Amino acid sequence: MKAWLSKLNADLSFSPASAAELARSELSGAFPDLSFHVTTDPDLGEGYRIRREEDGSFTVKGGETGVLYGAYEMIRRAFSGGSLPDSYSSSPKYALRMINCWDNADGTVERGYSGQSLFFENGKLTYDPLRMRELGRLMASVGLNVLCINNVNVHFPAQLLLEDWLPEAAALADLFRPFGVRLMFSVDFSQPMRHGIPTADPLDPEVRNWWKKTAERVYREIPDLAGFLVKADSEGRPGPFTYGRDHSEGANMLADAVRPFGGKIVWRCFVYNCRQDWRDIGTDRPKAAWEHYAFLDGKFADNVILQIKHGPFDFQVREPLSPLLLGMKKTNMAMELQLAQEYTGHQIDLYTMIPMWKELFEELPSDRIMSLAAVSNLGRDDNYTGHPLAAVNLFTYGLLAWNPDTDAAEAVSEWIRMTYGFAAADEQALLSLLLSSRRTYEKYTAPLGIGWMVTPHDHYGPNPSGYEYDLWGTYHKANRDAVGIDRTENGTGYLLQYPAALQEKYRNPETCPDLYLLFYHRLPYSFRMKDGRTLIQRIYDDHFEGYEETEKMAETIRSLPFPDPDKEVILSRMDRQLYNAKEWCDIINTFFRRLSGADDEHGRKIWD
Ligand code: GCU
Repeated sequence: MKAWLSKLNADLSFSPASAAELARSELSGAFPDLSFHVTTDPDLGEGYRIRREEDGSFTVKGGETGVLYGAYEMIRRAFSGGSLPDSYSSSPKYALRMINCWDNADGTVERGYSGQSLFFENGKLTYDPLRMRELGRLMASVGLNVLCINNVNVHFPAQLLLEDWLPEAAALADLFRPFGVRLMFSVDFSQPMRHGIPTADPLDPEVRNWWKKTAERVYREIPDLAGFLVKADSEGRPGPFTYGRDHSEGANMLADAVRPFGGKIVWRCFVYNCRQDWRDIGTDRPKAAWEHYAFLDGKFADNVILQIKHGPFDFQVREPLSPLLLGMKKTNMAMELQLAQEYTGHQIDLYTMIPMWKELFEELPSDRIMSLAAVSNLGRDDNYTGHPLAAVNLFTYGLLAWNPDTDAAEAVSEWIRMTYGFAAADEQALLSLLLSSRRTYEKYTAPLGIGWMVTPHDHYGPNPSGYEYDLWGTYHKANRDAVGIDRTENGTGYLLQYPAALQEKYRNPETCPDLYLLFYHRLPYSFRMKDGRTLIQRIYDDHFEGYEETEKMAETIRSLPFPDPDKEVILSRMDRQLYNAKEWCDIINTFFRRLSGADDEHGRKIWD
């Protein structure tokens, strides 16, 4: 199964020597009747130019990997029913277009919903070379160029990637290289302590030396390794705080080690108190990233990239843009997205993400960041993404990382045409369903920006107070009168982390966009929304609508001519989504009715 490239028959059984050779083979496989001149010009980097010559042949000129991206541009156009361009050039907006796999050495995938790991099994690095090439091709076909293969939570023996497993890791890097995909490793900040060094203090000379020697060894084997990804001082991970050092000291120490080889340190900013007492009203988790990093702006080495989750919490269905992404003016930054549907339906429920990403870019000027990262939704399942329709998220993420101005509807249609080649009416039906799937999911789950009403730890299905008295800092504080957290200056003050214009946009509950209302404000159920409805009525309406939309979605899905084996998977997951949507709708409505005592104005069934 080759996802959206199933029509591409070119041979993948051999290992091409270079991206240019691969580009030639892909083009002649896809267009046996056309002739191509593929020429490399290092100055063009990852960019390319395509030109139709007078004799009908095509010239594809680009940098080392640029020619490959040019080839896939032509293939995508042709396979999505378009015509080949007479003249076209392009280059990527972002330098690193990363996939972060959360794969463990035992073969499990943290927050993985597509089967076991593609890279690890039973405590070993082990992979199917053909599948690796297939994955390299999928990534390259949408311009993705960095693959971090192991979980940011580095559990033993994944540390061996920098040690005993280097030869196998180097062989894996060789497989991906012609696809322009460079590997990256998540590293354990305390790794020197496995080697008899009593500390991991980033200012300790022995520690610094250990990382330097390790980087030398790693880069000798994998000269184009993109770098190291680090989760430090977060959710139990080791980090510089243990030694009274700040995160610039930790990141810069690693940056020194990889600098001679052109490596990057991608340092995650997902740091917060995960042992909060729910009684503590002085701590507000969304404020944490800013508090840990904003004062360090300008202190990070030039080969450090801070990787910041798109929202201040953790990949909820709706969160505002992380203020840190707007605040760090002198620091390289990457925005982190999550393709894995952790809080967004486990690749059972339909949830197409590009509309959400486009909303983020409405507030984030695209040149504030220099890279994009996304937590992988990949696994060993035949179709790679568990749910065949979840592949749309990988595909559109690639297009967006290449060009953040990518149009959501065009990108999704291109994916549908490449994957299914439906007749126009069916394509349109699937397109509108996919584009509205996030809103529908949002309606039947936690209301108006609250988030977190999921089953604890597993994060699928409703449990409105599951996290309420827990230590993760994610509270809605619903009582019989009101719900939500006041995050303005009258409350936790989170809003003050934004530039003035955004403070203005969200400060006043009368003008704050509805969908963010309960993220920023604590309001009584009788609060009048802009359209005149009460808050409680809006909550009920959204939930009933969310379920009704899911029922309609199921009808559409059943009517579409999906081929086997996708059809069976899609239909059975649709049934599970219907069940989930009903559970959410009923449980959330009952939860709020029991608290508020308010009846639904339309007399619909809310359980006692
Ligand atoms: C979430 C997720 C964890 C993950 C963490 C992270 O909290 O539930 O599984 O480790 O994010 O991004 O590091």
